Amino acid sequence: MEIKSAEFLISNTDLSKCPQDTLLEYAFIGRSNVGKSSLINMLCSKKGLAMTSSTPGKTQLINHFIINKEWYLVDLPGYGYAQRGKKGRNKIQEIINHYLDGRDQLTMLFVLIDCRLEPQEIDIEFIELLGFNEVPFAIVFTKLDKISSSKLHENMLVYKNKLLESWEELPPLFFTSSETKKGKDDLLNYIEEINKEIKISK
Ligand code: GTP
Ligand code: MG
Repeated sequence: MEIKSAEFLISNTDLSKCPQDTLLEYAFIGRSNVGKSSLINMLCSKKGLAMTSSTPGKTQLINHFIINKEWYLVDLPGYGYAQRGKKGRNKIQEIINHYLDGRDQLTMLFVLIDCRLEPQEIDIEFIELLGFNEVPFAIVFTKLDKISSSKLHENMLVYKNKLLESWEELPPLFFTSSETKKGKDDLLNYIEEINKEIKISK
């Protein structure tokens, strides 16, 4: 799919202030600093569209971007950022929970995981909750440029086995780098396919 236009629309913490139309919505979530905002910029070929930072905790709001005037990409705050303190963490968690519970337009949630790390409890628990709450999701591994292909292969075996401890089958998996643009076409084609399928079934 070609992205012809990508515009920032609105930021807020309040679900009721999110766009109220019924356009399909694809959101990005994951731990702070995993590369959610960078991935959105890479997909849209627009540096600075979503705010990024090397300091974790940059995105603190629900950010809607309208793509090709047809569907939304949503940049969410990262979960689990320790420096924010318990109160701050709970507040972010509340924003995320409200969004996931109440956002009927959410078509697919992309859960981002840093490909360099071994499975983290916080991510595994988050993914299990998605299953419990029947939120459709896919996993996107980030920062592939920072690791050798042999190490990636090794990490992926560990990750897949970890997931298969609680899931009968693996969710869709994507492998990306915002630096090299790896995975861009795979992700955009995946979104395009879902958009098409839903259009046909309406
Ligand atoms: P929060 O908004 O704090 O939750 O973080 P985020 O998940 O949106 O991460 P962000 O996109 O701001 O990126 C965090 C840092 O990782 C920045 O310094 C990015 O430049 C860097 N980064 C993100 N993706 C990649 C990648 O694919 N490769 C490399 N080398 N660096 C990346
Ligand atoms: Mg961010």
